Amino acid sequence: MCIKPVIAVDFGTSNTYVAKCPGDQPTPEGIDFGDGRDGLATAILYRTKKEPIIGYKALEEFGDAEEERLTYTIRTQFKPDITHSPEARKNSHDFLVHLLKHSRNTIQPIDSQVIFGVPSEASVEYRNTLKDLAFKAGFGEIKVIDEPKGAIYFHVQRKDITPIEATQGALVVDFGGGTCDFALVVKGEVKHSWGDMHLGGRLFDDVFYQWFLEQCPDALEEMHEEQAEFFTLWYTCREVKEKFSQKMAINRTEKFRKKIGDFGRITDVTWNKFIERIKIYNPSTTFIEYLKNANPGALERFSQHNNVNILDWFRQSLRTGLQHEQVSQQQIACVVLTGGSSSWPFVEDLVQEELTSIGITSRLVRSARPYATISQGLAIIPALQLEYNAIREQLRTEMPNFIEEKIIPLIERRILEAAGRIAASITAELFDQRIKPILVNFQQNGGAASELKLSITQQSEAFRPQIKIVVEKEIGKVFTALPFDIVQEMTAWFKQHNLIFKHNTMHMEEANTDGKIIIPIDVYDKIETVIAWISVSITTALMSMISGGAGTALIATGPIGLVIGALIGLVIGSLVVTEGLAGAKRKAENWNCPAWIMCKVLSNAKIEGIRADIKQQAKEQTLQQINNAKRQLKQHIQQYVNLEVEALSAISQM
Ligand SMILES: Nc1ncnc2c1ncn2[C@@H]1O[C@H](COP(=O)(O)OP(=O)(O)OP(=O)(O)O)[C@@H](O)[C@H]1O
Ligand SMILES: [Mg+2]
Repeated sequence: MCIKPVIAVDFGTSNTYVAKCPGDQPTPEGIDFGDGRDGLATAILYRTKKEPIIGYKALEEFGDAEEERLTYTIRTQFKPDITHSPEARKNSHDFLVHLLKHSRNTIQPIDSQVIFGVPSEASVEYRNTLKDLAFKAGFGEIKVIDEPKGAIYFHVQRKDITPIEATQGALVVDFGGGTCDFALVVKGEVKHSWGDMHLGGRLFDDVFYQWFLEQCPDALEEMHEEQAEFFTLWYTCREVKEKFSQKMAINRTEKFRKKIGDFGRITDVTWNKFIERIKIYNPSTTFIEYLKNANPGALERFSQHNNVNILDWFRQSLRTGLQHEQVSQQQIACVVLTGGSSSWPFVEDLVQEELTSIGITSRLVRSARPYATISQGLAIIPALQLEYNAIREQLRTEMPNFIEEKIIPLIERRILEAAGRIAASITAELFDQRIKPILVNFQQNGGAASELKLSITQQSEAFRPQIKIVVEKEIGKVFTALPFDIVQEMTAWFKQHNLIFKHNTMHMEEANTDGKIIIPIDVYDKIETVIAWISVSITTALMSMISGGAGTALIATGPIGLVIGALIGLVIGSLVVTEGLAGAKRKAENWNCPAWIMCKVLSNAKIEGIRADIKQQAKEQTLQQINNAKRQLKQHIQQYVNLEVEALSAISQM
């Protein structure tokens, strides 16, 4: 089979990222457009009688232009409008045509599988329009995939999240340049997506732009003369903002300053001041001017509200979706932060706070370059699907052996150990402490068979409540570590297939040689239930062996019964001459047997024999009960392994 390489395009509102990847190996590579940074700005500069320019170069050329500017038209932020604006369609088409032209040496769409990301909420019309645009631009037949899925694949491949977490429920937060999108993906299906079309990183660009103008008011006129306001806002201030954010991610107590082109310098920038500013945001006149042409909808949003608290805006957007019934009913096993603006240190804090407030303690993951995750994630989908399908088949084939050779011996070893310990405890506490002294006393002093029976019955009855305690203690000691061992075996097995077995929902942790081992709550719970059930059945079995029949069980069966039987036989033998058989039988039970006769039936060797027999019986009873439960234990573990293996199918069908 010839597997075509993959080209994935994350066609964003502010930036576009392209990645390529072999179709059978998840090794993605971002395409460098020579802009000195990842991807390229989704911008096109039309020039009279000249080829258009795209990307940051377009923004830069527009920013640097002097009198030529009159012959220039710059277009950005056109992507969201392709369904209803012919101009946006034309801009997108031209942008994609030039993007292909630029990367002719690195990507060949005709010989590749081409994937375009789309926001989850994109309509069928949007998806079809995009397919049509891409086809006309020279990408051939493309496949469109929801962007959040790209982010999930990226982190699954990097082993930041497990396939099972990804399929149980992944919340993807995509905070980009122009918009903020949230999606909950469960079993490969977008259960619900929501977001805000106007909440994006560019607002912070504007915060820096205004901050700078407050410090250097004269700069505005200079910029105006050079027609460099947009350029300063969207390019220079964005770069300065990113540098500030990077610095704050390391240390929020540092002070920050930077040159703003040749117009001056922004100084005395601190985290606290920044936070204060973003809590009372109003767009600058330059931004308003820009929105008038580019995005009147967004302008309306701002003119309705004054002093916008951007932090609250983000929090509210997230909260609204979390309260939606399609989300609140679902498990959120992991959270993926993606999009360039998710690098802001406050994003993680806010998301964490909101989730904690509704009792969710999921792990958050974010790559070092969150803006590039979607394109790279989309690019590896075909390879990862192939890989997981193959691994799943291998795991399925190996599963019976794994259970028989790794798990069953673990259980067996513990069963034997538990049976041995229970038998030893019962023997020590029941026989050595309670029964043996009775037997020795009779051996030495003689007595009636009926007294012997009564004493043993009383002691057996009195021991009854102890049985439960002994069983629970010993079973607890032996089986508590079983889930740890099982998880360790599964971890090693998965590792052989280059998979991780790591869970967020933790129940308990134990240090082992590999560091921390975390037991998934479901494995632990299931095993714990079976273990509790085993304890009850062993206790019941031992109770009927020891104190059944109102304490007479030990006397009725086994060596104690035999000893008493032999004693009575011997007594009848000695009484028969004087009492006749009937009389001897009648009196035998209560006849006070002298010590010298007693010695014959109750030798030291006999007493030891009784001990060994009680121990053996207790062991057999215990073994039998645990063996009955073994099938169930095995079933639970098998179900669990199956769940893990099937998660791989779900993820390869996403
Ligand atoms: N370290 C950083 N800290 C804060 N913001 C950053 C950082 N790095 C990049 N950004 C911002 O992230 C935004 C770009 O993110 P991204 O490329 O994901 O957006 P996009 O996909 O083009 O936009 P959208 O998803 O809204 O269509 C820009 O506003 C950029 O300045
Ligand atoms: Mg984006």
